[in-house]
Amino acid sequence: MLQRLVFLLIVLLIQSSFLFEISSALQEGKTCILNDNCDAGLHCETCLANNNLRPRCSRTQPINPISKVKGLPFNKYAWLTTHNSFARLGQVSKTGSVILAPTNQQDSVTSQLANGVRGFMLDMYDFENDIWLCHSFDGTCFNFTAFQPAVNVLREIQVFLENNKDEVVTIIIEDYVKSPKGLTKVFNAAGLQKFMFPVTRMPKIGGDWPTLDHMIQQNQRLLFFTSDRSKEATEGIAYQWKYMVENQYGNGGLKVGACPNRAQSAPMSDKSKSLVLVNHFPDAPDLVVACRQNSAPLLESIKACYRAAGQRWPNFIAVDFYKRSDGGGAPQAVDVSNGNLICGCDNFAACKANGECG
Ligand SMILES: *[C@@H]1O[C@H](CO)[C@@H](O)[C@H](O)[C@H]1NC(C)=O
Repeated sequence: MLQRLVFLLIVLLIQSSFLFEISSALQEGKTCILNDNCDAGLHCETCLANNNLRPRCSRTQPINPISKVKGLPFNKYAWLTTHNSFARLGQVSKTGSVILAPTNQQDSVTSQLANGVRGFMLDMYDFENDIWLCHSFDGTCFNFTAFQPAVNVLREIQVFLENNKDEVVTIIIEDYVKSPKGLTKVFNAAGLQKFMFPVTRMPKIGGDWPTLDHMIQQNQRLLFFTSDRSKEATEGIAYQWKYMVENQYGNGGLKVGACPNRAQSAPMSDKSKSLVLVNHFPDAPDLVVACRQNSAPLLESIKACYRAAGQRWPNFIAVDFYKRSDGGGAPQAVDVSNGNLICGCDNFAACKANGECG
């Protein structure tokens, strides 16, 4: 009888302490069951690719640098960037077709913005007498590679900029649009023209960008880059590689310790381009392996690119499945870059509002 009572008591104690554990929010690395168990900015997941079966609270958000320091030039900040931001897992094409193209992200652009993503890589094509976001080939969009009209996603960004007056967003377009003024028309349709940071204010021979707070005051809070050189003259849209160096994307960018530039970019060390973009994702997006790739190897990659770029930390860190990690993931890589760029700390968490390392 007594034995049974003791046993019952122990069971009750274990249960209540367990309930207490999961009802209070958990920090990074703690064992969890549901996303809701974790602190804000974290979610609950395992990284099987690293043989981690235990579900743990993992980062989904970098620390927003504007929460502490706004007065530095734009090139002194790092931003979480999604590769093929629009290519969402499980999405059905707005043409009604099944999508056969690979997908690179798990959530919508609105959700990415809420998690602190500030760089968006979008592939734009002429399609159906409009501009569409497609993950296609040969510069042609098909029903089975077409996600949705670009204006939909651009409007999500417009709403965010309208509601968040201190935020700056960068769009990097892989540009297959040939229709005259096609990009200009779609930006106008989305109501984005008024936020445009003009190409005339971008530094052309290296040196610093205007400061973030000045960009905010001027309401020039949207940077647009195109991969089509001709559009700088015809539409005033910045040709990406005139302002930015970028390492090789795909498997070529995953080699440990190396940071070769992609063919269209000047060498990483070319300081006449003030911005540095680091790509870190495989040729074929892989949801399972992404948690490993976005963790320790990504930190190695930004360090290798820092050295290759002549001691410059990246401004844009571009990954697939940005929420997947083995703990800190891409948000941590952004914090490391911001820590070094903004106050010389190894992590932005240690930066103080006066720009000192505390
Ligand atoms: C492609 O999608 C459009 C709608 O956007 C539809 O009118 C057309 O029939 C589709 N073509 C094929 C081959 O399915």
